[in-house]
Amino acid sequence: MKRAIFPGSFDPITNGHLDIATRACRLFDELVVAVYHNPEKHILFSWEERIDLVRAATAHLTNIRVEGFTGLTIKYAQEIGAEVIVRGLRAVSDFEGEFQMALLNSTLAPNLETVCLISGQQLMFTSSSRIKEIALLGGDISGLVPQPVAARMARVVQERQKGAQG
Ligand code: PNS
Repeated sequence: MKRAIFPGSFDPITNGHLDIATRACRLFDELVVAVYHNPEKHILFSWEERIDLVRAATAHLTNIRVEGFTGLTIKYAQEIGAEVIVRGLRAVSDFEGEFQMALLNSTLAPNLETVCLISGQQLMFTSSSRIKEIALLGGDISGLVPQPVAARMARVVQERQKGAQG
């Protein structure tokens, strides 16, 4: 049984992430989407909310598990018995960072392979940070994120508007 891990911040999960997860589910027996608890990074959604949103967005995929993790990705991958780290590549601009991370991870854990999957062309520019910016400025993100994320984001925007008024 080949188990792969797809680690990330998922703040929030986008259609780009979902595309990569769907492709990985076809390649591996089990995919563990691992939501990183990063207290330093500027994060909009709490760890629990990010995990819940990934679970809601991937509920239709049968060979997937969604977990939270802290610490090093390679340690968590080893703990859960994953042999492969999956990451997504949207454009050439992603390559440098992913290459560095893959090399560092393989130095730390030579038995873990990183597999980068190429997302669909239409998702090339789908990034969580751009999507948050668009949503918070009143733009329509419904074509860019899974439906539960669009709904949650709409509530965040509403709450912020109410807060600004009151
Ligand atoms: O979605 P992101 O923010 O690009 O994901 C980055 C993530 C979470 C995969 C990366 O920061 C990570 O692996 N963090 C865990 C800590 C770790 O292992 N750092 C060393 C990476 S070489």
